[in-house]
Formats: sequence, structure tokens, C-alpha cells
Amino acid sequence: MSHWALYNSRQSTRPIRELCRQAMALTGPGAGRTAVDLGCGAGRETAALLAAGWRVVAHDSEPGTQLRISRTVGGTHERLRVRVCGFEDLSELPPADLIYAGYSLPHQSST
Ligand SMILES: C[S@@+](CC[C@H](N)C(=O)[O-])C[C@H]1O[C@@H](n2cnc3c(N)ncnc32)[C@H](O)[C@@H]1O
Repeated sequence: MSHWALYNSRQSTRPIRELCRQAMALTGPGAGRTAVDLGCGAGRETAALLAAGWRVVAHDSEPGTQLRISRTVGGTHERLRVRVCGFEDLSELPPADLIYAGYSLPHQSST
């Protein structure tokens, strides 16, 4: 199991990160707007954003991300899109009203 897979396997039930809480408080209900979760890991913040009414594009390079997020979210979700590839392979992000990157950009590893 990779370093990040092991890390993320232990994150699915922790409280929502304070930075994400603050961003969600500042931006208000998602109301169908789009948020991007860069380096989504286990999807804890992705799940919180979905619950607040956001469409979420969840992004991470870990191969098990799709399965891990569906466990956290409780299955598939019509407002969720998961993209599995490295940041370095991204040429653009979708138009979004909120871009959240929790402990991911400073910790990125090359894929
Ligand atoms: C410290 S974890 C943070 C995960 C989550 N945001 C959280 O707060 O628990 C860093 C995440 O960034 C992802 N990551 C690392 N390097 C990456 C890269 N080059 N491209 C995309 N994701 C990457 C890892 O797979 C991991 O899920």
C-alpha cells in the first residue's frame, strides 16, 4: 500500500478540516455551484461539500481514490465527479466557485 493510500485509509471519519469549514461558511450553500477539491484524499471534505449542495470535482492521483470516496460519500453521487491523475497532468480546472486544496499542494509527490 502506498504512503498516501495508507494515510487516506485513516481519514474517512475525522472532523472536516477547519479551513474547509471556513471556506464553506464564507461561500454559503453550494446551491448547485461547482467546487473543486484538489488532493481530495479520502473525500471527507468532498462529502461535506456535497452535503452543502455543491457540485464537486474531486481530484487526486491515488489510484484507489474513486473507491475510497464512494465509501466516504456512501456510494455514487449525481453531483460528484472524481478525476484520478496528478496535478502535473492537469491542463485546466473546470469553472468553479470554490477551489479547496487541503494539505495537498505542499505535499504533492510526482506521479
Ligand atoms: C496530506 S494528503 C491530504 C488529503 C486530504 N485533502 C486531507 O485533508 O486529508 C495529500 C493528498 O494529495 C495527493 N497527492 C499527492 N501528490 C499528488 C499529485 N502530484 N497530484 C495529485 N494528488 C496528489 C495524495 O494522494 C493525498 O491524497
